[in-house]
Amino acid sequence: MQNTFLLCFILLSIQITNIKCEFKRIDLASKRVNWTLSNNKTQISAKVPGGVYSDLQRAGIIDDILSGFNDVQTRWVAYDTWTYKANFQVSEKDVQSPVANLVFEGVDTIAFIELNDVPIGTTQNMFVRYVFDVKEHLKIGINELKVTFASPVHAAENRSAKHFTAPACVPDEYNGECHANQLRKMQASFSWDWGPAFPSVGLWKPVYIELYDTAIIRSLTTHTEQNDQLWYLKILAHLESGTRAKRVEGYITAELFVEGHQSLNVAREISIMTRHDGTVEVELNITVHSNVISVWWPNGFGDQPLYDLRVSLSTHKDGNEVSNKHIRIGFRTLELVEEDASKMLGNTTAGKGLTFYFKVNGYPMFMKGSNWIPANILPEIGYDKSTVDELLTAARDTHMAMLRVWGGGVYESDYFYERCDQLGILIWQDFLFACSMYPADPEFLDNVKVEIEQTVIRLQHHPSIAVWAGNNENEVALRGNWYNTLPEFDKYKEEYIKLYVETVKPIVETWDPSRRYLVSSPSNGVESEQEGYIAKNPYDSNYGDTHYYNYLSDNWDINIYPKTRFASEYGFQSLPSLKTMATATKNKEDYHVNSSYSKHRQHSPNGYNFITDQMNRHLKLDEHDPKHFEKFVFYSQISQAMAIKAETEFYRQSQADWYTMGALYWQLNDVWQAPSWSSIEYGGKWKMLHYFAKSFFAPVLVSPRLLLTDIVDVYAINDRLVPIIEGKITVDYFNWSSLTPFKSQDFATNVELLSVKKVTSLGLMNYNNDEIFLRFSLHMEGVSMSPHNFIFPKPLKDIKGLLQPNIKVTVSKNFYKNKLKKTFKYVVNIEVDTVVLFLWLETDALDGHFDDNGLVITQANTSVNYVTKRRITVEELEKNITYQYYIN
Ligand SMILES: *[C@@H]1O[C@H](CO)[C@@H](O)[C@H](O)[C@H]1NC(C)=O
Ligand SMILES: *[C@@H]1O[C@H](CO)[C@@H](O)[C@H](O)[C@H]1NC(C)=O
Ligand SMILES: *[C@@H]1O[C@H](CO)[C@@H](O)[C@H](O)[C@H]1NC(C)=O
Ligand SMILES: *[C@@H]1O[C@H](CO)[C@@H](O)[C@H](O)[C@H]1NC(C)=O
Ligand SMILES: *[C@@H]1O[C@H](CO)[C@@H](O)[C@H](O)[C@H]1NC(C)=O
Ligand SMILES: *[C@@H]1O[C@H](CO)[C@@H](O)[C@H](O)[C@H]1NC(C)=O
Ligand SMILES: *[C@@H]1O[C@H](CO)[C@@H](O)[C@H](O)[C@H]1NC(C)=O
Ligand SMILES: *[C@@H]1O[C@H](CO)[C@@H](O)[C@H](O)[C@H]1NC(C)=O
Ligand SMILES: *[C@@H]1O[C@H](CO)[C@@H](O)[C@H](O)[C@H]1NC(C)=O
Repeated sequence: MQNTFLLCFILLSIQITNIKCEFKRIDLASKRVNWTLSNNKTQISAKVPGGVYSDLQRAGIIDDILSGFNDVQTRWVAYDTWTYKANFQVSEKDVQSPVANLVFEGVDTIAFIELNDVPIGTTQNMFVRYVFDVKEHLKIGINELKVTFASPVHAAENRSAKHFTAPACVPDEYNGECHANQLRKMQASFSWDWGPAFPSVGLWKPVYIELYDTAIIRSLTTHTEQNDQLWYLKILAHLESGTRAKRVEGYITAELFVEGHQSLNVAREISIMTRHDGTVEVELNITVHSNVISVWWPNGFGDQPLYDLRVSLSTHKDGNEVSNKHIRIGFRTLELVEEDASKMLGNTTAGKGLTFYFKVNGYPMFMKGSNWIPANILPEIGYDKSTVDELLTAARDTHMAMLRVWGGGVYESDYFYERCDQLGILIWQDFLFACSMYPADPEFLDNVKVEIEQTVIRLQHHPSIAVWAGNNENEVALRGNWYNTLPEFDKYKEEYIKLYVETVKPIVETWDPSRRYLVSSPSNGVESEQEGYIAKNPYDSNYGDTHYYNYLSDNWDINIYPKTRFASEYGFQSLPSLKTMATATKNKEDYHVNSSYSKHRQHSPNGYNFITDQMNRHLKLDEHDPKHFEKFVFYSQISQAMAIKAETEFYRQSQADWYTMGALYWQLNDVWQAPSWSSIEYGGKWKMLHYFAKSFFAPVLVSPRLLLTDIVDVYAINDRLVPIIEGKITVDYFNWSSLTPFKSQDFATNVELLSVKKVTSLGLMNYNNDEIFLRFSLHMEGVSMSPHNFIFPKPLKDIKGLLQPNIKVTVSKNFYKNKLKKTFKYVVNIEVDTVVLFLWLETDALDGHFDDNGLVITQANTSVNYVTKRRITVEELEKNITYQYYIN
C-alpha cells in the first residue's frame, strides 16, 4: 500500500520554487542488496524477504521441502542457529537525517540484531513491526547489518522450562515440535493435523531504513457511522516522530475521492506532543452525503465500491517534508446481533438464548463460507499474491461471503485484505492463538500487546473485516479438559482471562470500538462473557458459534447434525488427487493407503480409518481392486463432498426453524499434498467438495431433508435481496436405470427475501427405495433459478438398476474469457446413455478448472466450461480430458 521512496516533486508558485520531498527509505529488501545466510558450516546467498527453508532450497542444500519425507529429513534446519547478513551504502546526507530508523516489518522470530557490530536489539514476535533507532550507529559508506536467529524449537523449549503451559506437545503422528504456544510465531509452523512442521526463521517481510526530519504517517484507521443521509467518516492518522517524545508541528490534509470525480477535503494545522515512544494520533472528520457514495456489499448481495482516501502530512520545519498514506475504504454498516431469540422464534426450545447473526447494511445475512489456513507453510511464500488471488477468487466463485482467518496461522498481507474488500469476502479474524493454553507472564503479555495494537491499527480500515475473535478453540479446550488442565483449571482460567480479556480486549476496543470482539471462537458470545468467559457448555446450540466434527456417525445423513446459531467450523477429510500427489512423490509403492508415505502424511492418530468407515457406509470398494488406491482417493473426495453438502444444507435449512445464520466449513486450502479437510488442494486444484460448494452455497436452492421416517421435507432457500414470487419447485422421480423420470411433481412457492421456508413434505414409503432417486429444481417464469439437487434414499452401494454408461466427451469451442488476464474458456460436451454418478473430469493442466464437476448426470446432453490460462487447441484439450465416475 505504502510504497514511498525518494520521491520529489516540484511545486511552482509565483515567485519561488519549492521542492517537496517525501521521506527517504533505504530499502534493504531490494535486489541491489546482497544478503547472505550462514550457519557455522556454510554460507549461501539469501533473499529478503524470505526464510531459511526457501534459501536452502534455492542453494540446493535441501531438496523440495514438500517432497516425500523431507519435512522430517530437513528438521535439522530448525535446530540450527542461522545468521542473515547484508552490507549497504549510506551517504553523508543520510547520516545527517534527524531520524534514522531501522524497520523490520516482520522477523521470524527470536533474533539478535547488530549493526556495524553494535547490538541494536532483539525480536520475539513474528507478527510485530520492529523499529530501531539507528541514528547513532549508521556510518558513511558501507554498513553491515547482521541478524542472528535462535532455533525456534530450542527457544520454545527454553521458555517452556520457565513458563510451562499445556499441552506438553502435539501428538506423535504430527511429526511436530513442542511448545509452539511459548512463541509468538505462526502456531502451525510446529505442525498441525493438516500440515507438516517447518519451524522457519528469517526476515519474512520488508526491511528498510527510513530517514526523515520530523514525523511520518505510519497508518490510518477510519470509522464510518451512518445517520440518515449522511456518513460521518472519522480518520485517525497514526504519526511517528522517531523513538523519543517531541512536538510535531505541521499541516495535515485528507482527501476522499467520491462518485462523480469529486473529492471531499479536510485540513488541520497541528502542533502536538507525542508520547514517550514518539507516537501520536491526529483526528480528521469528513461528512459524506450518501448520494456521493454507494454502499459496500458482501459477495452475492451487491457491488463492492471502494473509495480512495489520501492523507498527507507536511511538517513545518523547513516547510518541505511530506508523508503520504493512501488507502481505499468502503461504506457499510455491520453488526453482530446477539439478542433475545424468542423475539424471532417465539417461546420455544429454539427461542431460548440469543441470536448470533451478522446484519449488513440493515439486512440479516446468512454467512456462507469457509476457513482459511495460511496459503503456504513458509510464511514468506504465504503472502504470494497470485496464490492469494487464486484462492480468494475460488471462494468468491463459489458464493462465499465470509472466510474465517483461523488463529493458528498469520495475520495476512495487506494485499489479502484488499482483495477481500474488492471481492466482497467478509473476514472473521481470529487473533493468533489456537488449540492451546497460553502463558500469561508479563513478558509474554507485553509481547502480545504490541502485536494486537499493530494488527488492529493496520487492518482496521478494511470494510471486509467483520469481527475479531480472541483465539481458536481455547475456551472449549479448557472447559473440555483437552489438555489435562482440570487439576489446575482455576489457574488456567485466570491466565485465559488475563490474556484475552484483560490484555487483548481493551486494545481492540480502543482502536476499533465499533467491531465486536469475541473472546473465543467458538463461544457462546455474550453468554460466555456472562458465565465468566469459560462457559459451562461453550457448544450450547442456543448461543454463539460452534465447531462440529463427528467421524463416527453417518456423515451423509442430514439427521445427525446438531442445531447451532452459527457453524464456524465443520469438516471431513479427503485425499488430494493423484496429480497433486505426484508433485510430492513419484515412487510407485507410495501409492497405497498402507504405504509408509501415506501413513506419514496422515496426522490423524486413527489413520485412514475414519475415511474408510464413512466410505464403506455408502460406496463399494474392494480392497483387492487393482485400482484400489486411485478409487480410494476418488471415493474419499465423493464422501467428503457429500458429507459437507449434507451438513451445510442442514445449516441453511435451519435458518427457518433455529435461525442458524452461518456455515463456514473447515477448510478452504492446503499447505501440502496430504489427506486434509480442504476443498482446494495444495497447488490450486479443486476437490469435488469445492465444486459442490458452488451448488450447496447457491443463492437460491431447493434443499431436501430425508428424515428417518422416509419423509422428505423440501426447503426453499432464498439468499437474495429480492423475493421469489410465483416460483415453481419441480421434483422428478427417477429409476436408477433410466434418464426419463417416472414421475414429476410441481409445487408453487413464494419465498421472502433472505429467508428459508419449508415448502412441502413428500413420502417415499410406497417405492422400492433402492431403485429410485429424486431430483429437485426451482424455476421462476420458466427460468431455472437453482442448481439441481438430489436425494439418494439408500446408500449407493445398495442401489439397484444403475447401468454401466457409455460416455462421450467432446470439446466444441474455445474463446477468450478474459483478454486482460489471458484466460481461455472451452465448452465441454458430455453425452451419456444412462444416469451417471459423480462424473469427474480431469485434465493434465493443473491450473485450469471446470465450472462444474463431480456431476450427477440425469440427461443425455450436458455441457460444462473449462477455464485455463494455457492456450491449447480444442483437439488437444479433448485428448487430455480423462474421467471417472462411481458405479458399484
Ligand atoms: C551483489 O552481488 C552481485 C552478484 O554477485 C554483484 O554484481 C554486485 O556488485 C553485488 N552488489 C553489492 C552492493 O555488493
Ligand atoms: C555448529 O552448530 C551446531 C548446531 O547449532 C553445533 O552443534 C556445533 O557445536 C557448532 N559448532 C561450532 C564449531 O560452533
Ligand atoms: C536454551 O537454554 C540453554 C541453557 O540455558 C542455552 O544454552 C541456550 O542458548 C538456549 N537456547 C535458546 C535458543 O534460547
Ligand atoms: C470529529 O467528530 C467527533 C464527533 O463525531 C468530535 O468529537 C471530534 O471532536 C471531531 N474531531 C475533529 C478534529 O473535528
Ligand atoms: C413460555 O413457556 C414457558 C413454559 O415452557 C411458560 O412457563 C411461559 O409462561 C411461557 N411464556 C410466555 C410469554 O408465553
Ligand atoms: C491396510 O492395512 C490394514 C491393517 O493391516 C488392513 O486391514 C487393510 O486391509 C490394508 N488395506 C489395504 C488396501 O490393503
Ligand atoms: C425400476 O426399474 C426396475 C427394473 O430395473 C423395475 O423393476 C422397477 O419397477 C422400476 N421402478 C420404478 C419405480 O419404476
Ligand atoms: C495433454 O496430454 C499429454 C499427454 O498425456 C501431455 O503431455 C500434455 O502436456 C497435455 N497437454 C495439456 C495442455 O494438458
Ligand atoms: C446430444 O447432442 C448431440 C450433438 O452433440 C446430438 O447429436 C444429440 O441428438 C443430442 N441428444 C439429445 C438427447 O438431445
